[in-house]
Amino acid sequence: MTEHDAVFTAHPDPVPDPSVMREHYREEGLAEADLAATPVQQFARWFRQAATEGRLYEPNAMVVSTADAEGRPSSRTVLLKQFDERGFVFYTNYGSRKARDLAQNPYVSLLFPWYPMARQVIVSGVARRTGREETAAYFRSRPHGSQLGAWASTQSSVIAARSELDAAYAELEARYPEGEQVPVPPHWGGFRVAPQSVEFWQGRDNRLHDRLRYVARPDGSWRVERLSP
Ligand SMILES: Cc1cc2nc3c(=O)[nH]c(=O)nc-3n(C[C@H](O)[C@H](O)[C@H](O)COP(=O)(O)O)c2cc1C
Repeated sequence: MTEHDAVFTAHPDPVPDPSVMREHYREEGLAEADLAATPVQQFARWFRQAATEGRLYEPNAMVVSTADAEGRPSSRTVLLKQFDERGFVFYTNYGSRKARDLAQNPYVSLLFPWYPMARQVIVSGVARRTGREETAAYFRSRPHGSQLGAWASTQSSVIAARSELDAAYAELEARYPEGEQVPVPPHWGGFRVAPQSVEFWQGRDNRLHDRLRYVARPDGSWRVERLSP
């Protein structure tokens, strides 16, 4: 028995084989004529469908990929909190790895993995911090516990133990009991990703998927191109 076999037979339930997993995608596709005038309007349509007909769990969860100054990529999930023609907004810790990457290299990719609908949307763009006013307005809308959590965590740094985090939270809870206003942490805030291109991917049968990509022209208008699946 090889080391590999040992790993896969150690548990009594067999590990599913990903090479035989195959879903049948839908007949109905995405045509150029169906697209909205801007990618944000098209995103709004699909987002509404993901939240209603798709009944997706957290359709606002997206994978944010950044790269550091040396071009080393990293990805993580964050929640989309707002979007309009100016871009897509998420909130995070400004000392985190992603925020440090973005300070050196503002180019970013956002991927919405709407697998149950055989869809994905990929936004490629440039991230800029949201203004302090906007950050403060959103921070105040968060539950008290999340506000304290933003203070308690030095996101992405190594900590010795879970107890360190719990102790920091307990201290903050004593200082700012429920009902007391929590100040906005200076190391916390939003990023708005202004899209430069947005691809809408619709899975179709026989791997003949539809891929329509909006690309920004220098004057801010959009052209649409179709990509081979
Ligand atoms: C469903 C889900 C939603 C998340 N939402 C956020 C978020 O909105 N903001 C955030 O900073 N981290 C969020 N996280 C945690 C991040 O994935 C990540 O662990 C954290 O931001 C640190 O990333 P970094 O060290 O690469 O900067 C979320 C994780 C999951 C699984």
